[in-house]
Amino acid sequence: MALLEVDNLSIEYVSVGSRNVAVRDFSFSCGAGEVVGIVGESGSGKSTAILGVLGLTRPGAEITSGSVRLEDRELLELSDAQWGRIRGLHIGLITQNPRGSLNPVLRVGKQIAGVYRAHHPDVSKDEARDRAKELLELVGINDPERRLQAFPHELSGGMAQRVLIAMSLSCSPKLLLADEPTSGLDVTVQAQVLDDLRDAAQELGSSMVLVTQDLGIVANYCDRIYQLHAGESVEQAPTREFFRRPAHPASAALLMAQRGEEADRFKLRGFPVDGRRLPPGCAMHPRCPFVDEAAGCKTNHPDLVQVGPDHASRCFRHEEVQGVMQRLLRGEAADDAETSEAPRNGGEASE
Ligand SMILES: Nc1ncnc2c1ncn2[C@@H]1O[C@H](COP(=O)(O)OP(=O)(O)OP(=O)(O)O)[C@@H](O)[C@H]1O
Ligand SMILES: [Mg+2]
Repeated sequence: MALLEVDNLSIEYVSVGSRNVAVRDFSFSCGAGEVVGIVGESGSGKSTAILGVLGLTRPGAEITSGSVRLEDRELLELSDAQWGRIRGLHIGLITQNPRGSLNPVLRVGKQIAGVYRAHHPDVSKDEARDRAKELLELVGINDPERRLQAFPHELSGGMAQRVLIAMSLSCSPKLLLADEPTSGLDVTVQAQVLDDLRDAAQELGSSMVLVTQDLGIVANYCDRIYQLHAGESVEQAPTREFFRRPAHPASAALLMAQRGEEADRFKLRGFPVDGRRLPPGCAMHPRCPFVDEAAGCKTNHPDLVQVGPDHASRCFRHEEVQGVMQRLLRGEAADDAETSEAPRNGGEASE
């Protein structure tokens, strides 16, 4: 049994005359002590799915099906009062906009202590303050005594994010959901904050689901990875396997874009698919350099199929994708990969 098991989660944004299926039948898990990555282009449903794990939705959205179990306990059936004991205490959330999540008129020490006391009503004010100081230290803040007195506007972006991390870790949650926790920070600060986040989570025994668009972050911090496209999981694998044997065109596009090689040849064309108007067949087919009518890409919806140990891909042409990518990743000349399996109509730019 994994710590977190999400099965067939579907979430839709409903407005007059349209339904936007932002998350479709998404199943994923996170084991004790694991760091699981969720990647996908903007609009692929990452944040909607993460909120769904907390039983939360943005205005206009509804969870239409699925199950979210924490240590085998179904969460989506909980009452509001029961959710109150889960959110913050057992599951912490870190979002990408720390200032939006911090109260601007309250000193940070009070905010952290407040979260801790909300779940531990028997703790004295002094004990909660000590806990807040300890947490600031744990997330890498120098001079925590002084920082306890600061207001959010007095903190740099990196520092504000660390305060938010300290808040979300205040009750040593079993699970931490981190939605692009460092995307607003400059690159050098990003790595430091992520290192401190990982170390603090490890120290407190918290598992983590980490949402990012950055494969460098996945490579450095995640044990396993799920790739989303148009609200669906299109590839899932242990991190090492994902980087060695990517088996979906969306993963190939992301990988090559970040390696800066042959990016044009593998990139997904046009704009992300609109969840209100999904094309027939594979949702990605109008954008896909591997599209093949004969394989059924334009007419049939692909299932997730096993393509390796603990590795699944939702692509009729996963063998071709794996073949081309493995040759490229092994560093063989691009021309060698230019066989009949190569992307059929993404090659113009590389010629
Ligand atoms: N408040 C909203 N009302 C209507 N549709 C929404 C709303 N928020 C998100 N969506 C739609 O839901 C889909 C998924 O959005 P979501 O924010 O979960 O994506 P994301 O993967 O987190 O993107 P990003 O990388 O930009 O954060 C998108 O198609 C988006 O247009
Ligand atoms: Mg998001």
